Amino acid sequence: MRTTVGIIGAGPAGLLLARLLHNAGIDSVVLESRDRAYVEQRQRAGILEQGTVDVLRAAGAGARMDREGLPHDGIELRFDRRRHRVDFPALTGGRAVMVYAQTEVCKDLIALQLKEGGPLLFEAEALAVEDAGTDSPRVRYRHEGRESVLECDYVVGCDGFWGVARKAVPEHLSRVFERTYPFGWLGVLADVPPSHDELVYARHDRGFALLSMRSPSVSRLYLQVPEGTDAADWGDEEIWDELERRFETGDDWRLERGPITQKSVTPMRSYVHEPMRHGRLFLAGDAAHIVPPTGAKGLNLAVGDVVTFARALVHLGETGSAERLDAYSETCLRRVWQAERFSYDMTTMLHRAPGATPFDDRIQLARLDRIATSRAAGTDLAEGYTGFPLD
Ligand code: FAD
Ligand code: DHB
Repeated sequence: MRTTVGIIGAGPAGLLLARLLHNAGIDSVVLESRDRAYVEQRQRAGILEQGTVDVLRAAGAGARMDREGLPHDGIELRFDRRRHRVDFPALTGGRAVMVYAQTEVCKDLIALQLKEGGPLLFEAEALAVEDAGTDSPRVRYRHEGRESVLECDYVVGCDGFWGVARKAVPEHLSRVFERTYPFGWLGVLADVPPSHDELVYARHDRGFALLSMRSPSVSRLYLQVPEGTDAADWGDEEIWDELERRFETGDDWRLERGPITQKSVTPMRSYVHEPMRHGRLFLAGDAAHIVPPTGAKGLNLAVGDVVTFARALVHLGETGSAERLDAYSETCLRRVWQAERFSYDMTTMLHRAPGATPFDDRIQLARLDRIATSRAAGTDLAEGYTGFPLD
């Protein structure tokens, strides 16, 4: 098979890229190792930045998001039994976010791709990217028990952290920047209306907790747990008891309980691979970088990368200039490092590290108090949360 852009991975990055290229009249083929049901059910992110919402709408993929998504104008920070609301539009000149799950973004993009776009092959596992440094890179893959080759003008590795694309960048040209955190998130889905109409990020001496949602009747909740925790070690009532403790306030706010339908543990890591391009291979999304989930940047960064790539390729077609394509890595990395910094700041401000001292606790509380009392500090959080603009 031959195509202009070979896309590895049908997560949000690969699916959106295929849609953007289709809209620009550029053909692509998407290879996805898992089956459709798996990709559509995998529980992950839930918050879309303003820029992501705008991109999905402009790509003709925003209709259901606009009907069913929940626009949010702020978040609540909870610490020391206090509650502080961060008002996004007031602090950013009108920016906000949308609660619309990654599962739903993927379902919408898959339906569009199958109806209008180029080939999207499920259960097609990329085995290797070859000849990335030449004008005709190839993806070797296995589909329906047979090995085949996809010949491309460009390959975009959207195959997540565990994919194969990154391995095609020679080691001596790669630099990796990494940090792991000695804790993870136990995430649960529960059939109960959210106990607050906006997200609540809580810092507590027992650890971090987050109240989020998937719809007006489904809550999504997270608890900081020690690294290596098995979700099965936590009973449902134990989870609710712990959430209740960490969300405690000085007023009469209450956490509603309901049946827990899913639970899993996510490890926390910061990771950046530089450069994000080698020859005609481009890395996008989790294939190139990981952020800890606090602040919900992962999916939004993936969107920024593929928009940057699609615009650069269109620019090449329209002007003959490869300048933007050549600047892909640098352009993306500026935004990536801002998101890395933001996610790191949110994570270290809100989680209690093992061995944290009373001094560390006081510093965290001082950082939160600063956000609650200084417009400049509140604006910094609101700008980061609603998203860094694309160049
Ligand atoms: P992915 O969504 O990982 O998609 C990559 C795709 O490539 C997958 O479908 C995979 O099956 C496919 N693939 C892999 N290898 C191959 C291969 N060899 N051949 C073909 N296909 C391949 N972010 C948040 O903001 N909030 C959260 O709460 C949150 N929770 C998360 C929980 C988990 C367990 C994980 C792993 C991530 C979470 N994230 C969260 C991050 C966010 O979901 C990711 O940043 C986002 O999915 C990135 O999209 P992507 O398309 O780059 O990669
Ligand atoms: C969700 C995940 C996040 O990482 C976050 O900061 C906010 C919300 C969520 O899954 O709903």
